[in-house]
Amino acid sequence: MTVQIKTAEEIEKMRVAGRLAAEVLEMIAPFVLPGVTTGELNQRCHEYIVNEQQAIPAPLNYHGFPKSICTSVNHVVCHGIPNNKPLKEGDIVNIDITVIKDGYHGDTSQMFGVGEVSEKARRIMRISHECLLKGIKLVKPDTRLGDIGFAIQHHAESLKCTVVREYCGHGIGIGFHEPPQVLHYGKRGSGMPLEKGMTFTIEPMINVGKRHVKLLDDEWTVITKDRTLTAQWEHTILVTDDGFEVLTKRSDENF
Ligand code: MF3
Ligand code: CO
Ligand code: CO
Repeated sequence: MTVQIKTAEEIEKMRVAGRLAAEVLEMIAPFVLPGVTTGELNQRCHEYIVNEQQAIPAPLNYHGFPKSICTSVNHVVCHGIPNNKPLKEGDIVNIDITVIKDGYHGDTSQMFGVGEVSEKARRIMRISHECLLKGIKLVKPDTRLGDIGFAIQHHAESLKCTVVREYCGHGIGIGFHEPPQVLHYGKRGSGMPLEKGMTFTIEPMINVGKRHVKLLDDEWTVITKDRTLTAQWEHTILVTDDGFEVLTKRSDENF
């Protein structure tokens, strides 16, 4: 399948789906506290998406994923399955929300510190967020995917952090994961040039230690092989005439 250019009507639906995904993160933020379980956060998000938004939580049953959101704690890189273990003071957690509304997907994730978190934890959350912003700022027609990957890799590695290679951003629309693959590493000037009307995610996973990951026996949970801390942020982006629109922008953000 080739990369689709979304029509004006499709873009309007992507805006709605993106806004709803962002609103789930805004809704859940005040509940991310010591003592809450990721299962409880999942339940709250599920009910909000289904009952308030009249939307569909895309992860649920996606290739057999058992829950409605992903919650990835500390050394979990991505695809953590919500469970009955309470979060504790000092944990860092990524909450990844994907909703389907009117047939279209909006996909976004954010890091949260649970209570007071260490300087090291705050640093990896900040660097990973800077990587996302550096990628987003390059989005415009004729930028190449490799330019985005390069900028992210360069920022992470210049601060002695590493980029996970096994998972990447992706085109998004009617499909959860559409072409192209948006790598978070690469060479300037390489890869596909962006075109107005493309929609895709950027979602860098940045590790404190080595870049290598390991899949747990549950066949979903991805951890850092050396069990060092890792952090990820994600937005769904539209390529506009002369730049980008962040479809999953939260009200605390300015682009
Ligand atoms: N939301 C994830 C992404 O950013 C994908 C989660 S797939 C799931 O692409 F099955 F684990 F939910
Ligand atoms: Co995604
Ligand atoms: Co996601």
